[in-house]
Amino acid sequence: MILFRHTVFFIGVIFVIPIFIHSCFSSKSTLSNFKAIEEPKDNLSTLEKIELGRELFFDKRLSINDSIACASCHIPEFAFSDRKKVSDGVYGRKTERNSPSILNAGYLPTVMFDGHLETLEKQVIVPIQEHVEMDMNMLDLIKKLRAIQKYQSAAQFIFKRDFDPFVLTRSIAAYERSLISKNSRFDQYFYQGNKKAMSKDELKGWQLFSEKLYCIQCHPAPYFTTYKVENNGLYKDYSAINDKGKFRIENDSSFIGFFKIPSLRNIELTYPYMHDGSITTLEDVIQHYQKGASGNKTQSKIIQKFNLSLKEKNQLLLFLKTLTDTSFD
Ligand code: HEC
Ligand code: HEC
Repeated sequence: MILFRHTVFFIGVIFVIPIFIHSCFSSKSTLSNFKAIEEPKDNLSTLEKIELGRELFFDKRLSINDSIACASCHIPEFAFSDRKKVSDGVYGRKTERNSPSILNAGYLPTVMFDGHLETLEKQVIVPIQEHVEMDMNMLDLIKKLRAIQKYQSAAQFIFKRDFDPFVLTRSIAAYERSLISKNSRFDQYFYQGNKKAMSKDELKGWQLFSEKLYCIQCHPAPYFTTYKVENNGLYKDYSAINDKGKFRIENDSSFIGFFKIPSLRNIELTYPYMHDGSITTLEDVIQHYQKGASGNKTQSKIIQKFNLSLKEKNQLLLFLKTLTDTSFD
């Protein structure tokens, strides 16, 4: 009987301890992974379509004076952003906002900092016609591109029609959906099983980000954004600031200072930060949150003051840099 009890205890220990140990580290395995991108029914991707979209994305002839392409402001080495506070459009005109990375844009449920556009297809038309970006009239542009034999033949071959706004918007959007970034060291560690991909300090930084602090509530894996708009307290007072974010669309004062939560993937490459490029370094972004942000009226209640030692701040920074994916250089 005693022997039997011991055996039960022993077997129990053998099974329970590993389960206990596993559950201590199981935050790794419970991380949700990337879903498949949903393509609109009228725009299923093909390699030829993506290739046409890529050529158009890099073609400066899409602008009024042949000087600016989509890729002038969304540069591949900078994770498809441009490292400027705000971007330079045609004739040295400046955009109002900082150029966001468009890696993983295929996952966006809504597009733009105030989240007011539903699809990538619709978005394509905006910078082309925008006075401070490419300043091109759509009818003139279609005439111009139809006269280029390569584009006209590709339209006929892929879409069985003349080059028109449908061809332009569908192919560029298909190219954007092909820009998937999920091969950072964070991905290699948590999703690809490479336990050497992250150091102890980087993992400590992830723990700070996801457990000790509140960052994960707005920037959760795998996309590092909830894709919602939020107010992270950038300015104390928006009355003298022209760009009030989502308020511009809703005209409801509870949306003053609400901007789309950006993904933190490739954050090391996409400085300066925030919708207006007003924060230059990641250290300063951490400082912004550490002091509890500006405390404006509509700031999210999640954001509160916190204390980190110098070592912890550095670990948080090291973790953020594990989200860099160099596959697009
Ligand atoms: C002159 C610089 C400039 C050019 C040219 C430009 N963009 Fe942008 N792009 C921006 C800026 C700035 C924003 C942010 C605008 C906003 O949110 O109001 C943006 C936003 C976007 C977004 C939304 C990303 C998100 O996270 O919501 C997409 C997609 C995009 N651009 C694709 C394109 C495509 C496609 C072209 C070419 C047809 C293009 N851009 C041309 C500067 C530019
Ligand atoms: C309540 C939601 C919320 C929380 C919590 C939050 N953020 Fe943010 N974060 C945002 C929003 C919204 C922006 C964009 C604001 C803008 O464009 O003006 C942003 C921007 C950023 C940026 C700049 C991104 C870019 O591309 O410009 C970084 C880096 C960042 N947050 C890191 C963090 C860290 C680290 C924490 C935890 C200490 C955190 N965030 C907590 C909502 C949040």
